[in-house]
Amino acid sequence: MNIENYIRDIQDFPKPGIVFKDITPLLANHEAIEACLQLLINDLKEKKIDKVVGVESRGFFFGMLLAQKLNAGFIPVRKPRKLPFETISASYELEYGTDNLEIHIDAIQKGERILIHDDVLATGGTAKAVCELVEKLGGEIVQCNFLMELSFLNGREKLKGKDIFAALTY
Ligand code: PRP
Ligand code: MG
Repeated sequence: MNIENYIRDIQDFPKPGIVFKDITPLLANHEAIEACLQLLINDLKEKKIDKVVGVESRGFFFGMLLAQKLNAGFIPVRKPRKLPFETISASYELEYGTDNLEIHIDAIQKGERILIHDDVLATGGTAKAVCELVEKLGGEIVQCNFLMELSFLNGREKLKGKDIFAALTY
């Protein structure tokens, strides 16, 4: 099973010049989901993860599945004004301007061992903001875990000192 065969390139989406990695064929195939999960989990079962933090929206798919496999809880990090309880937020840069990500203030207890999961590591702005949120709440980041890393965008440079894992690198 080669999961790359279930990720298709979409030219010029969402904007001209961008090649979008579409994982919907992977999500539609039970065996591909299982193979992908095995890759994402690697040695995490030994790392005693308390909670998986998944990033809206594409980080929710495998984030929740990882939590289930690791006997961990799941915490959503969401785009602004989506979470109903009290939140803290962190900003990150977009191509033009900035945006924010939010987490509930009671989502993490001090010292809990946290796995951050998202589908793609691109420029690293999103993941860096999520790290800030987790650390503000006193969580210990065990790993930043991605399905795909677009290495040519150097996202790792924004995550210095973090353990970074990507199932696929482009
Ligand atoms: C995409 C992707 C990652 C992020 C990576 O999400 O799913 O979350 O961008 O980019 P970065 O490393 O340059 O920050 P997007 O914000 O497009 O939203 P979505 O997941 O809701 O589609
Ligand atoms: Mg995303």
